[in-house]
Amino acid sequence: MRIVYLNGEYVPENEAKISIFDRGFLFADGVYEVTTVVDGKLIGFDGHINRLQRSLDELKISFDVDTAKMLAIHRELVERNNLQEGMIYLQITRGNPGDRDFAFPPEDTPVTIVLFTQTKQVVGTAVETKGLKVVTVEDLRWGRRDIKTVQLLYPSLAKMEAKSRGADDAWLVQDGQVTEGTSNNAYIVKDGTIITRNLSNDILHGITRGSVLECARSLQMKVEERPFSPQEAYEADEAFATSASGFTNPIIEIDGHTVGTGKPGPVGDKLRSLYLEENMKAAV
Ligand code: PDD
Repeated sequence: MRIVYLNGEYVPENEAKISIFDRGFLFADGVYEVTTVVDGKLIGFDGHINRLQRSLDELKISFDVDTAKMLAIHRELVERNNLQEGMIYLQITRGNPGDRDFAFPPEDTPVTIVLFTQTKQVVGTAVETKGLKVVTVEDLRWGRRDIKTVQLLYPSLAKMEAKSRGADDAWLVQDGQVTEGTSNNAYIVKDGTIITRNLSNDILHGITRGSVLECARSLQMKVEERPFSPQEAYEADEAFATSASGFTNPIIEIDGHTVGTGKPGPVGDKLRSLYLEENMKAAV
């Protein structure tokens, strides 16, 4: 049985209990991060912690993340659960005011902090060689997608819509332009140029995105940060998606259109290798 972390304690997963009045439960009033573990080490940890603090600040949840303390909790969970490969999920909510009220509770209400491990193969997966199929779905999420909140109902619905249409995931479209995937950032490659939507409140500022674009620039690849349409994506040479646990996952079909050769493309493959190499060197 997993050992999870809840508000300062390490407990078996079936003993971790949260109040029915928790703001995370009643209002989806919380933020989260997912950090990938490879060979028992955390990838991109500082980036995830910085984004966590930003998400908290944007929602005015008064909590100062102590990076060293948070790293110690992550490491303890890796150790106690003997996690070699997978993820650590972290969630912080505005806590338990003891009743339901739209207004925020007093600032000194303790936040709820939960962390748990998930065992999952992330290196050398079948997706890496086979690729994924996506369909486009209208982006009906709220306007602050740059904040990593736990209100994930629409991405979840979009993912199920994609599955019902025989695909693996959805790329979300707003005003005729792709924003991102349900839980990943979206990219196309045309004539050697990598195109991905520019950072704004419309998308999550992916930690993997930042690192992958750095890798691309170090390989002298051309990068254009701008919106692109589904039509442009159908005609691309290559497409891929990035996320902490998926690294760069090839996309081989979009709305039934085969992308490029219908096989994972060389740009995504090269970026995946360099991303892993660089991030494993820096893993903690
Ligand atoms: N999802 N865009 C969205 C909407 C996401 O939910 C995610 C991450 C990303 C990629 O961000 P990063 O590279 O920092 O993982 C982009 C996580 C993995 C999840 O919800 O499980």
